[in-house]
Amino acid sequence: MSRADLTLLPEWQALQQHCNQLETRHLRELFADDPKRGERLVAEATGLYFDYSKQRVDDEALRLLRALAEARDLKGHIAAMFRGERINATENRAVLHEALRAPRSEKILVDGHDVVPDVHEVLDRMAAFADTVRNGAWKGHSGKPMRNVVSIGIGGSDLGPVMAYEALRDYSRRDMTFRFVSNVDGTDFAEAVRDLDAAETLFIICSKTFTTLETLTNAHAARAWCVKALGDESAVAKHFVAVSTAAAEVAKFGIDTKQMFGFWDWVGGRYSMDSAIGLSTMIAIGPDHFGDMLAGFHAMDEHFRSTPFEQNLPVLMGLIGLWNTNFLDAATVAVLPYEQYLKRFPAYLQQLTMESNGKHVTLAGAHVDYATGPIYWGEPGTNGQHSFYQLIHQGTRLVPCDFIGFGQTLNPVPAQGGGDQHDLLIANLIAQGEALAFGKTAEEVRAEGTPEALVPHRTFEGNRPSTTILAERLTPFTLGSLVALYEHSVFVQGAIWDIDSFDQWGVELGKQLARTTIAELIATTEPKLAHDSSTNSLIRRYRTLRDG
Ligand code: F6P
Repeated sequence: MSRADLTLLPEWQALQQHCNQLETRHLRELFADDPKRGERLVAEATGLYFDYSKQRVDDEALRLLRALAEARDLKGHIAAMFRGERINATENRAVLHEALRAPRSEKILVDGHDVVPDVHEVLDRMAAFADTVRNGAWKGHSGKPMRNVVSIGIGGSDLGPVMAYEALRDYSRRDMTFRFVSNVDGTDFAEAVRDLDAAETLFIICSKTFTTLETLTNAHAARAWCVKALGDESAVAKHFVAVSTAAAEVAKFGIDTKQMFGFWDWVGGRYSMDSAIGLSTMIAIGPDHFGDMLAGFHAMDEHFRSTPFEQNLPVLMGLIGLWNTNFLDAATVAVLPYEQYLKRFPAYLQQLTMESNGKHVTLAGAHVDYATGPIYWGEPGTNGQHSFYQLIHQGTRLVPCDFIGFGQTLNPVPAQGGGDQHDLLIANLIAQGEALAFGKTAEEVRAEGTPEALVPHRTFEGNRPSTTILAERLTPFTLGSLVALYEHSVFVQGAIWDIDSFDQWGVELGKQLARTTIAELIATTEPKLAHDSSTNSLIRRYRTLRDG
């Protein structure tokens, strides 16, 4: 049987049958039948408490999901990734972001070469550089220390650093300014530097390929801005460093490769926040905290690699996500961190999950006949409650939710009426999961004296699934574990769906077409257009609007 025949597997068909039966059962019944369900359907590792009891699964569904994982040789896939096999088949690359956080004592071979010493050599150089910037020893062109760091990159060369900076702001140097520029929209760059003194500003140009249009365009804008302000091309040497795998391109741009921090083709862009791409994070929080973050990643790697599936957090998360996607037909996952510092976490996860598993063909190139990667989105709580939660509670679509919260806040603020504002925040997190799962019946609504005409409007069907992840406190270690949890859950799903979770060919066509379009937009004479009628008209209309 070819790997494409996922839906013909007996395990898949058994899941489908079981789902047909289980769909008739409400979470209210599942909890009533098993008073200990909320204590039983939980797992815990690396400081993360993972409660999946409010997912619409029972023991049999979980057993069948694990059987499906066995049938797809998930264990073999995990081992192959950790062994450095070229599991990114369409790009013929190994996938070894785990090596980025491996302790010095480990040995991880890629084509017979141990990459762990290479990783630590770069980490050591990053730490030495970060220290000189942080302690003021790194001086700019006019002899001033750096007070501002502007990281320029996009996609995986931006989302991780921004998310980690925001998440770990409490651990960051408050006397320094950190900005992130990604969009080719000039406004992004202009707003990022408008109040900065070039003499005190360090640019980190992050690009794996160092050919990405947005990043190179912004890097050139930054260089022009810096040279104009400091009056001299030679200023570039003190104000620009690069993070890349492409030394020749870095040199071509004009950054001395001695000021380049490298990584490797076995690190995917969206898996690179703990490589040198995290240089801005390291400058912000310091090498020790950065090391703690790597330790958090590594702890989850070890847990993933060695824990039986029943208790394995990424496996559980991946399998439950697959159940929701393929059997309950949910098209989406809402990620709802009840922690303001995680405000960019949903955006980060969008690339991680959707660029990884947004694929419609199997590794062998056959069109899949099952859904793959769901749409990830979200906002920090409680803001979302006052906007889109209405649809999650009473809309016609099933939106599985991941709630994320912490026992302790980094910013205690006494609340009027008692307790801390953090208690109010977490009360909301807990209440939302409860409301989604159990809802409110028409009888309960009537018993409150609600007029009959309003009863349907005020009834909550419930039975809406969620997972709740709780940890003690948002620390660098916890953040690393949390990110690795999602990384590996994406892997679990990709392995079962038989897709390449590590390529991203889908972004290429738009990039290619944009090259032609740019030439047409900036042509000094009316260009001859050969697109479809809509595209032709849009190009003409833009030129008219622009030129007045
Ligand atoms: O366009 C998609 C992508 O290739 C991402 O996968 C990647 O993270 C991003 O562009 C940036 O690429 P680079 O780091 O090479 O500039």
